[in-house]
Amino acid sequence: MALRISVIGTGYLGATHAACLAELGFEVLGMDIDPEKLAALAAGRVPMYEPGLSELLLKHVAGHEGSTGRLRFTDSTQEVAEFADVHFICTNTPQKKGEFAADMSYVDLAVDSLAPHLTRPALVVGKSTVPVGSASRLLDRLRSLAPAGDAVELAWNPEFLREGYAVGDTLHPDRLVVGVRPGGRAEELLREVYATLLDEGVPMVVTDFATAELVKAAANSFLATKISFINAMAEVCESAGADVTQLSKALSYDERIGGRFLQAGLGFGGGCLPKDIRAFMARAGELGADQALTFLREVDSINMRRRSRMVELAREQCGGGFLGRRVAVLGAAFKPNSDDIRDSPALNVAAQIQLQGAQVTVYDPKAMDNARKMFPSLSYAATPLEAVEGAHVVLHLTEWQEFRELDPSEVGALVAERRLLDGRNVLDADAWRAAGWTYRAMGRPS
Ligand SMILES: NC(=O)c1ccc[n+]([C@@H]2O[C@H](COP(=O)([O-])OP(=O)(O)OC[C@H]3O[C@@H](n4cnc5c(N)ncnc54)[C@H](O)[C@@H]3O)[C@@H](O)[C@H]2O)c1
Repeated sequence: MALRISVIGTGYLGATHAACLAELGFEVLGMDIDPEKLAALAAGRVPMYEPGLSELLLKHVAGHEGSTGRLRFTDSTQEVAEFADVHFICTNTPQKKGEFAADMSYVDLAVDSLAPHLTRPALVVGKSTVPVGSASRLLDRLRSLAPAGDAVELAWNPEFLREGYAVGDTLHPDRLVVGVRPGGRAEELLREVYATLLDEGVPMVVTDFATAELVKAAANSFLATKISFINAMAEVCESAGADVTQLSKALSYDERIGGRFLQAGLGFGGGCLPKDIRAFMARAGELGADQALTFLREVDSINMRRRSRMVELAREQCGGGFLGRRVAVLGAAFKPNSDDIRDSPALNVAAQIQLQGAQVTVYDPKAMDNARKMFPSLSYAATPLEAVEGAHVVLHLTEWQEFRELDPSEVGALVAERRLLDGRNVLDADAWRAAGWTYRAMGRPS
C-alpha cells in the first residue's frame, strides 16, 4: 500500500510541501494550529502569494470539483498520527526575541503533541531549519513520549526551496539531503517518498543527522556571504568612484565565482537568511566553535548597513532632511514574486524614513495586505503611479518585473522631483537619465 503522509505546519514551506506530495501521488493530511490558515487551505485558497501553488491546491484539495481529493487538512495531531506513516515537521523556527538563537518551541511542541499518539511504527521527518544537534535531541524526545517507542524513527531532510519558486523547487530540487541514523528504515521510506524525483536524476545525499542539519546552515551562510561580499565591494566602489555593476559583471565570467547572488543593492532579508545565519553563530558559540563563524557577524552588519545607507542616500536626495518631503517606495516584499515581508529591507527603509519625518507611500504588487498589517502607519497606494504622485524621491527597493517596465517619462510627469534611487541596481539607468531623472544606485558613481 502506498505511504500516507502528514505535513505538520502548513506555512510557506509546509503548504507547498503538502501540495507537492499530493502532486507526486500521495494521500496527504496537512495539520496546523492556525485555524484561519487551515480554513483557507481547505477551501483551496493559498494564504500567501506563491506562484503555481493555488493551482496545485485546487487540483488536489478534497471537496473541490474535479480534484484528486488526495489533500486534506486538520487541526488534530491524533488524526495525523492515525492517518500517516511519514510525518513531515514544517513548523517555524524564528529568531528568539532579544537573542540570536533559533526559537525551537514550535518544533518541540509539534513533536510533543504528535508523539503520544504514535502507537505504531512511524517516520518523523524534520524539514524546518534547526540548530545542529536538534535531530538527535528530538529523536530521544519522540521515543520517550511515543507508545510505539523505538519503532518511531526520525530523519532530517532540510529544505532549500526559494519563495517565489517554491513549487518548482519542491518538485524539481537541485538536491535532496537526508540525515538518518544507520540501521533503520528511514532512508528506504524517504526514497519511496521521493521516488519520482530520484527517477528524474535528482541527487540524494544521505548523511548523519548533524551533517544534514549543517548543510542547510552552511548553504544559507554561503549565500548570505556572497551577497554581503558584493555589497562590501559596493561600499569600496562608492568611495573609489568605481561602478560595482561592472565589477560584478566582470567577476561573473569567472566560473569559479559565477554571477548569481552577486548583484549589489539593498541586501538580503526575509524569514530565512538573516535569522538562520544568526542562529548558526549562536549554535557555534554553544559548541565552542564561535571563532569559525565570526565572519558571519560581519556578513550580517554589511547587510544591515545597506539599509541605513539607503536611508542616507534618500535623505541626501531630499536636500538633507525628510521633514515635509514625500517619498515613494516601490516594493514591500523582501524579494520579488513573494508577498513575504518578514525582515523586509524595503519596509525597514520605508519605516525608518517615515520615522524621520517624511510622508512615505508604498506600493507592492502582492505584499500590500501583509505590509499594511505590520506597518499600518505608512501610506499605501493602489498602483505604482499613484505611489509616486508628488514624490520628491522615488525608491526602488524590491525588484519586481512591474517596476522595470515603468515608463520614466510617465512617472516623471507625476513626481515633484525626478529623483530615483535604485536599491536593486536593475533599472535601466540610461533610460531614466534620458527622461531627465537623477538616477542613483548603491556602489555606482552618481
Ligand atoms: N519559507 C521558506 O522559504 C523556507 C525555505 C527553507 C526552509 N524554511 C524553514 O522552514 C520552516 C518553516 O518556515 P515557513 O516559512 O514555512 O514558516 P511559516 O511561519 O510560514 O509556517 C510555519 C507554520 O507552522 C505552524 N505551526 C507552528 N507551530 C505548530 C504546531 N505545534 N503544530 C502545527 N503547526 C504549527 C504555524 O501556524 C505556521 O502556519 C522554518 O524553519 C524555516 O526556516 C523555510
